[in-house]
Amino acid sequence: MGIHDRWVEERRHEHYYKLAKKQGYRSRASYKLLQIDERFGIFREGDSVVDLGACPGGWLQVAKEKVGDAGKVIGVDLRKIRPMEGVETILGDITDDATMIELLSRIGGKTDIVLSDMAPNIAGQYSMDHARSIHLCTFAVNVCDRILKKNGKLVMKVFMGDMFGTIEKQLEDRFASVKIHSPAASRDTSSEVYLVCKGFYAKKNVSLKEPEAPVKENEFSVKGGFI
Ligand SMILES: C[S@@+](CC[C@H](N)C(=O)[O-])C[C@H]1O[C@@H](n2cnc3c(N)ncnc32)[C@H](O)[C@@H]1O
Repeated sequence: MGIHDRWVEERRHEHYYKLAKKQGYRSRASYKLLQIDERFGIFREGDSVVDLGACPGGWLQVAKEKVGDAGKVIGVDLRKIRPMEGVETILGDITDDATMIELLSRIGGKTDIVLSDMAPNIAGQYSMDHARSIHLCTFAVNVCDRILKKNGKLVMKVFMGDMFGTIEKQLEDRFASVKIHSPAASRDTSSEVYLVCKGFYAKKNVSLKEPEAPVKENEFSVKGGFI
Protein backbone atom coordinates (compact mmCIF):
# COMPACT_ATOMS: atom_id res chain seq x y z
CA MET A 1 0.00 0.00 0.00
CA GLY A 2 1.42 3.40 -1.01
CA ILE A 3 1.64 6.50 1.16
CA HIS A 4 -1.34 8.10 -0.59
CA ASP A 5 -3.54 5.00 -0.16
CA ARG A 6 -2.61 4.78 3.50
CA TRP A 7 -3.45 8.46 3.93
CA VAL A 8 -6.87 7.93 2.29
CA GLU A 9 -7.54 4.93 4.50
CA GLU A 10 -6.56 6.72 7.68
CA ARG A 11 -8.87 9.61 6.78
CA ARG A 12 -11.71 7.15 6.19
CA HIS A 13 -11.02 5.36 9.48
CA GLU A 14 -11.08 8.73 11.24
CA HIS A 15 -14.26 9.74 9.39
CA TYR A 16 -16.25 6.74 10.66
CA TYR A 17 -14.71 7.02 14.11
CA LYS A 18 -15.82 10.66 14.41
CA LEU A 19 -19.22 9.93 12.91
CA ALA A 20 -19.79 7.12 15.44
CA LYS A 21 -18.89 9.46 18.31
CA LYS A 22 -21.16 12.17 16.98
CA GLN A 23 -24.11 9.89 16.32
CA GLY A 24 -23.74 7.96 19.58
CA TYR A 25 -22.78 4.58 18.15
CA ARG A 26 -20.53 2.40 20.27
CA SER A 27 -18.31 1.42 17.36
CA ARG A 28 -17.43 2.28 13.77
CA ALA A 29 -18.70 -1.20 12.93
CA SER A 30 -22.26 0.20 13.07
CA TYR A 31 -21.71 1.79 9.65
CA LYS A 32 -20.80 -1.53 8.08
CA LEU A 33 -24.12 -3.00 9.18
CA LEU A 34 -26.04 0.14 8.17
CA GLN A 35 -24.45 -0.05 4.72
CA ILE A 36 -25.20 -3.77 4.44
CA ASP A 37 -28.82 -3.18 5.46
CA GLU A 38 -29.21 -0.32 3.00
CA ARG A 39 -27.94 -2.45 0.16
CA PHE A 40 -29.46 -5.85 1.00
CA GLY A 41 -32.52 -5.03 3.15
CA ILE A 42 -31.83 -7.17 6.21
CA PHE A 43 -34.14 -5.88 8.96
CA ARG A 44 -37.91 -5.56 9.25
CA GLU A 45 -39.78 -4.05 12.15
CA GLY A 46 -40.66 -6.68 14.74
CA ASP A 47 -37.86 -9.09 13.74
CA SER A 48 -35.91 -11.09 16.30
CA VAL A 49 -32.12 -10.85 16.03
CA VAL A 50 -29.21 -12.79 17.56
CA ASP A 51 -25.87 -10.99 17.30
CA LEU A 52 -22.75 -13.13 17.86
CA GLY A 53 -19.56 -11.30 18.88
CA ALA A 54 -21.59 -8.21 19.76
CA CYS A 55 -19.29 -6.22 22.09
CA PRO A 56 -19.12 -3.21 22.45
CA GLY A 57 -22.58 -3.08 20.85
CA GLY A 58 -22.51 -0.99 17.67
CA TRP A 59 -24.41 -3.66 15.72
CA LEU A 60 -26.84 -4.17 18.62
CA GLN A 61 -27.72 -0.46 18.47
CA VAL A 62 -28.39 -0.65 14.72
CA ALA A 63 -30.43 -3.87 15.08
CA LYS A 64 -32.51 -2.38 17.90
CA GLU A 65 -33.22 0.80 15.92
CA LYS A 66 -34.28 -1.23 12.90
CA VAL A 67 -36.52 -3.83 14.56
CA GLY A 68 -38.09 -1.39 17.03
CA ASP A 69 -39.89 -2.14 20.27
CA ALA A 70 -41.84 -5.01 18.76
CA GLY A 71 -38.58 -6.78 17.91
CA LYS A 72 -36.19 -8.76 20.08
CA VAL A 73 -32.39 -8.40 20.12
CA ILE A 74 -29.92 -10.65 21.95
CA GLY A 75 -26.14 -10.12 21.88
CA VAL A 76 -23.49 -12.70 22.81
CA ASP A 77 -19.82 -11.99 23.50
CA LEU A 78 -16.79 -13.21 25.41
CA ARG A 79 -16.47 -9.66 26.70
CA LYS A 80 -19.05 -7.95 28.88
CA ILE A 81 -21.40 -5.73 26.89
CA ARG A 82 -22.40 -2.53 28.63
CA PRO A 83 -26.18 -2.67 29.32
CA MET A 84 -28.36 -1.32 26.52
CA GLU A 85 -32.05 -0.55 26.82
CA GLY A 86 -34.30 -3.10 25.19
CA VAL A 87 -31.42 -5.47 24.37
CA GLU A 88 -30.52 -8.73 26.15
CA THR A 89 -26.92 -9.83 26.45
CA ILE A 90 -25.14 -13.09 27.23
CA LEU A 91 -21.55 -13.21 28.47
CA GLY A 92 -19.96 -16.33 27.04
CA ASP A 93 -17.98 -18.13 24.38
CA ILE A 94 -20.18 -19.30 21.52
CA THR A 95 -17.94 -22.36 21.08
CA ASP A 96 -18.91 -23.52 24.61
CA ASP A 97 -22.01 -25.67 25.10
CA ALA A 98 -23.09 -23.63 28.13
CA THR A 99 -23.38 -20.45 26.03
CA MET A 100 -25.33 -22.26 23.33
CA ILE A 101 -27.71 -23.71 25.93
CA GLU A 102 -28.21 -20.26 27.50
CA LEU A 103 -28.89 -18.77 24.06
CA LEU A 104 -31.42 -21.49 23.23
CA SER A 105 -33.30 -20.88 26.45
CA ARG A 106 -33.28 -17.07 26.08
CA ILE A 107 -34.45 -17.06 22.47
CA GLY A 108 -37.38 -19.29 23.42
CA GLY A 109 -38.04 -20.49 19.88
CA LYS A 110 -36.48 -19.31 16.64
CA THR A 111 -35.02 -16.08 15.35
CA ASP A 112 -35.46 -14.17 12.06
CA ILE A 113 -31.86 -12.99 11.77
CA VAL A 114 -28.42 -14.19 12.91
CA LEU A 115 -25.56 -11.69 12.78
CA SER A 116 -21.92 -12.57 13.37
CA ASP A 117 -19.16 -9.99 13.46
CA MET A 118 -17.04 -12.40 15.51
CA ALA A 119 -13.32 -12.02 15.07
CA PRO A 120 -10.47 -13.92 16.71
CA ASN A 121 -7.73 -12.09 18.56
CA ILE A 122 -5.52 -11.08 15.68
CA ALA A 123 -2.23 -12.97 15.87
CA GLY A 124 -0.86 -11.09 12.88
CA GLN A 125 -0.12 -14.40 11.23
CA TYR A 126 -2.33 -14.45 8.19
CA SER A 127 -3.12 -18.18 7.89
CA MET A 128 -3.72 -18.55 11.64
CA ASP A 129 -6.10 -15.56 11.74
CA HIS A 130 -7.94 -16.92 8.72
CA ALA A 131 -8.24 -20.43 10.24
CA ARG A 132 -9.57 -19.02 13.52
CA SER A 133 -12.08 -16.85 11.69
CA ILE A 134 -13.32 -19.89 9.74
CA HIS A 135 -13.56 -21.82 13.01
CA LEU A 136 -15.84 -19.11 14.47
CA CYS A 137 -17.90 -19.06 11.26
CA THR A 138 -18.60 -22.80 11.53
CA PHE A 139 -20.09 -22.14 14.98
CA ALA A 140 -22.20 -19.29 13.61
CA VAL A 141 -23.50 -21.68 10.94
CA ASN A 142 -24.35 -24.16 13.69
CA VAL A 143 -26.22 -21.47 15.56
CA CYS A 144 -28.29 -20.96 12.39
CA ASP A 145 -29.02 -24.70 12.24
CA ARG A 146 -30.34 -24.53 15.79
CA ILE A 147 -32.27 -21.27 15.93
CA LEU A 148 -32.79 -19.63 12.53
CA LYS A 149 -36.33 -19.60 11.15
CA LYS A 150 -37.10 -20.93 7.70
CA ASN A 151 -36.39 -18.10 5.21
CA GLY A 152 -34.25 -16.39 7.87
CA LYS A 153 -31.14 -14.30 7.17
CA LEU A 154 -27.50 -14.45 8.20
CA VAL A 155 -24.88 -11.68 7.96
CA MET A 156 -21.43 -12.99 8.87
CA LYS A 157 -17.90 -11.66 8.81
CA VAL A 158 -15.10 -13.86 7.53
CA PHE A 159 -11.40 -13.24 6.97
CA MET A 160 -10.58 -14.28 3.43
CA GLY A 161 -8.17 -17.14 2.78
CA ASP A 162 -7.80 -20.62 1.35
CA MET A 163 -10.56 -22.19 3.47
CA PHE A 164 -13.14 -19.62 2.41
CA GLY A 165 -14.66 -22.04 -0.13
CA THR A 166 -15.60 -24.56 2.55
CA ILE A 167 -17.64 -22.05 4.53
CA GLU A 168 -19.20 -20.66 1.35
CA LYS A 169 -20.26 -24.21 0.42
CA GLN A 170 -21.85 -24.78 3.85
CA LEU A 171 -23.85 -21.59 3.33
CA GLU A 172 -24.87 -22.41 -0.22
CA ASP A 173 -26.23 -25.73 1.09
CA ARG A 174 -28.39 -23.87 3.58
CA PHE A 175 -29.48 -20.59 1.93
CA ALA A 176 -31.21 -19.72 -1.33
CA SER A 177 -28.93 -16.69 -1.78
CA VAL A 178 -25.33 -16.13 -0.61
CA LYS A 179 -23.58 -12.87 -1.51
CA ILE A 180 -20.06 -11.72 -0.69
CA HIS A 181 -19.87 -8.07 0.21
CA SER A 182 -17.23 -5.60 1.31
CA PRO A 183 -18.88 -2.51 2.85
CA ALA A 184 -17.30 0.89 2.25
CA ALA A 185 -16.82 1.25 6.02
CA SER A 186 -14.47 -1.78 6.04
CA ARG A 187 -10.81 -0.93 5.81
CA ASP A 188 -9.07 -1.44 2.49
CA THR A 189 -6.20 -3.33 4.08
CA SER A 190 -8.51 -5.70 5.92
CA SER A 191 -9.06 -9.17 4.51
CA GLU A 192 -12.56 -9.18 6.00
CA VAL A 193 -15.64 -9.63 3.88
CA TYR A 194 -19.26 -10.12 4.85
CA LEU A 195 -21.41 -12.99 3.68
CA VAL A 196 -25.00 -11.90 3.27
CA CYS A 197 -27.30 -14.93 3.19
CA LYS A 198 -31.04 -15.02 2.66
CA GLY A 199 -33.73 -17.69 2.38
CA PHE A 200 -32.64 -20.24 4.99
CA TYR A 201 -33.90 -23.72 4.04
CA ALA A 202 -34.02 -24.90 7.70
CA LYS A 203 -33.47 -28.46 6.57
CA LYS A 204 -30.56 -29.12 8.95
CA ASN A 205 -32.58 -28.51 12.06
CA VAL A 206 -30.91 -31.36 13.86
CA SER A 207 -29.08 -32.11 17.06
CA LEU A 208 -25.47 -31.46 16.18
CA LYS A 209 -22.68 -33.39 17.81
CA GLU A 210 -19.89 -31.38 16.22
CA PRO A 211 -19.71 -28.55 13.73
CA GLU A 212 -18.65 -29.38 10.21
CA ALA A 213 -15.34 -27.65 10.76
CA PRO A 214 -12.97 -27.37 7.82
CA VAL A 215 -10.17 -27.80 10.31
CA LYS A 216 -6.57 -27.83 9.24
CA GLU A 217 -4.64 -30.44 11.22
CA ASN A 218 -2.72 -29.08 14.21
CA GLU A 219 -3.90 -25.51 13.75
CA PHE A 220 -6.46 -25.64 16.52
CA SER A 221 -8.87 -28.06 18.08
CA VAL A 222 -12.64 -27.93 18.02
CA LYS A 223 -13.89 -27.45 21.53
CA GLY A 224 -16.91 -29.28 22.88
CA GLY A 225 -19.99 -30.07 20.85
CA PHE A 226 -23.62 -29.18 20.95
CA ILE A 227 -26.25 -31.01 22.91
C1 LIG B 1 -15.19 -6.82 15.78
S1 LIG B 1 -15.80 -7.16 17.38
C2 LIG B 1 -17.53 -6.94 17.19
C3 LIG B 1 -17.97 -5.51 17.08
C4 LIG B 1 -19.48 -5.38 17.15
N1 LIG B 1 -20.12 -5.91 15.95
C5 LIG B 1 -19.92 -3.94 17.29
O1 LIG B 1 -20.56 -3.43 16.38
O2 LIG B 1 -19.66 -3.33 18.33
C6 LIG B 1 -15.62 -8.92 17.45
C7 LIG B 1 -16.10 -9.54 18.76
O3 LIG B 1 -16.13 -10.97 18.62
C8 LIG B 1 -16.00 -11.49 19.93
N2 LIG B 1 -15.73 -12.93 19.89
C9 LIG B 1 -14.63 -13.54 19.38
N3 LIG B 1 -14.70 -14.87 19.57
C10 LIG B 1 -15.87 -15.12 20.22
C11 LIG B 1 -16.50 -16.30 20.72
N4 LIG B 1 -15.91 -17.49 20.58
N5 LIG B 1 -17.69 -16.19 21.35
C12 LIG B 1 -18.27 -14.96 21.51
N6 LIG B 1 -17.72 -13.81 21.05
C13 LIG B 1 -16.54 -13.88 20.44
C14 LIG B 1 -14.86 -10.65 20.50
O4 LIG B 1 -14.83 -10.71 21.92
C15 LIG B 1 -15.17 -9.26 19.96
O5 LIG B 1 -15.85 -8.47 20.91
